[in-house]
Amino acid sequence: MAETKRTATLNIDGQTYDLPVMSPTVGPDVLDIRKLYGQADVFTYDPGFTSTASCESTITYIDGDKGELLYRGYPIEQLADQSHFLEVCYLLLYGELPDAKQMADFEIRVTRHTMVHEQMHNFFRGFRRDAHPMATMVGVVGAMSAFYHDSTDIGDPWQREVASIRLIAKLPTIAAMAYKYSIGQPFVYPKNSLDYAGNFLHMCFSVPAEEYVVNPVLSKAMDRIMMLHADHEQNASTSTVRLAGSSGANPFACIAAGIACLWGPAHGGANQACLEMLKEIGTVDRIPEFVAKAKDKDSGFRLMGFGHRVYKNFDPRATVMKESADEVLELLGVGNNPLLQVAKELERIALEDEYFISKKLYPNVDFYSGIILEAMGFPTSMFTPIFALSRTVGWISQWKEMIGDPQMKIGRPRQLYVGAPRRDYPELETR
Ligand code: CMC
Repeated sequence: MAETKRTATLNIDGQTYDLPVMSPTVGPDVLDIRKLYGQADVFTYDPGFTSTASCESTITYIDGDKGELLYRGYPIEQLADQSHFLEVCYLLLYGELPDAKQMADFEIRVTRHTMVHEQMHNFFRGFRRDAHPMATMVGVVGAMSAFYHDSTDIGDPWQREVASIRLIAKLPTIAAMAYKYSIGQPFVYPKNSLDYAGNFLHMCFSVPAEEYVVNPVLSKAMDRIMMLHADHEQNASTSTVRLAGSSGANPFACIAAGIACLWGPAHGGANQACLEMLKEIGTVDRIPEFVAKAKDKDSGFRLMGFGHRVYKNFDPRATVMKESADEVLELLGVGNNPLLQVAKELERIALEDEYFISKKLYPNVDFYSGIILEAMGFPTSMFTPIFALSRTVGWISQWKEMIGDPQMKIGRPRQLYVGAPRRDYPELETR
């Protein structure tokens, strides 16, 4: 529980109300308004939750002004450099870094759950051949609740644990199957001798007719992309997972809700939208035209991969991602990739522009990730599914934290109603 040492006083028409001020371990203080409606008969108004803490959490911390992202206290730069995705999964799920034995046990548990129920193959075949892999994933992950009945009782901690492991283990398999289905290739079974990221590449790029050897440089880059996307405190999709879970819905349904929310271009869909934008720009000389369009409110156009609700200095994930883009493209022998040149020049021009400076708009994690993923051979439609499979551990950690919290309540925001007041139903002929 956060500490409460001070109070703030709210004055409404001369009547005062004391609001407890809660202090987090780090970050801004939080006014506790839980009793406000009962005492003062007023709601607070905060569309988009720009000033509202929706929960207590111990998982991830972001300092938007400093450009800092911590998983359980550890800076993302250190984890990206020294850790690996499954270790980060353990950290997010259980709160501490594992020792060697805990890590080995965890790896075995995840690895043993990578296959999906064979009947799920038939389920995939019900989708249109050209379905977007995100559409398939929303459906298939939701349908996991129909296949894994023994891990849907949210009141049982053991079932919650099994569901968590199943989701972390099977999401890469499901994402790869969605991809294979969309390009008309046979599904590839997981290979447990490979590490998590290497196995995902294998399931995406291997075909029965040819041996596929995982390039360690690419699997390391993929592992890093996964780490950078693993959690991001109470963003839109995580809040969706928590809200869905607050009604007692099973974890598979909740994660499917998170995937649906992530799909939007303002959130996880931005990586696909960003690469499409970079391709549309095409050459460095067209950048000023697009920057001008982004500044024109009437155009409805935004620079995709730019801006963030919380980061107002820089997105630390983008810094690591930019380094990775350089490394991967260099190693693939495409260091002079025209899209990377356009991206770097666009970043340079935008960061010198008064509009972007004054609004504190910086490249976010999605700005460079698409370039790396495309260089690896992924089509743009797979960018958001890769974000989804990487974020699954964050969603499930946040969901577990919420379910385990004795203070959990169903999420039920109120509203500022501005519609018609009560009126009587008129007969048809009088309208
Ligand atoms: N290009 C041009 N102008 C922008 C952009 C942009 N990318 N982003 C924000 N602005 C302007 C916006 O028009 C507004 O101007 P004004 O104050 O004059 O009305 C101001 O900056 C604040 O924007 P906002 O929409 O109120 O900010 P927000 O915190 O609600 O939105 C955002 C954050 C990420 C949705 C937004 O910056 C955006 O749409 N970016 C492009 C999409 C994108 O890259 N999303 C990925 C986010 S990071 C990955 C993830 O977490 O999913």
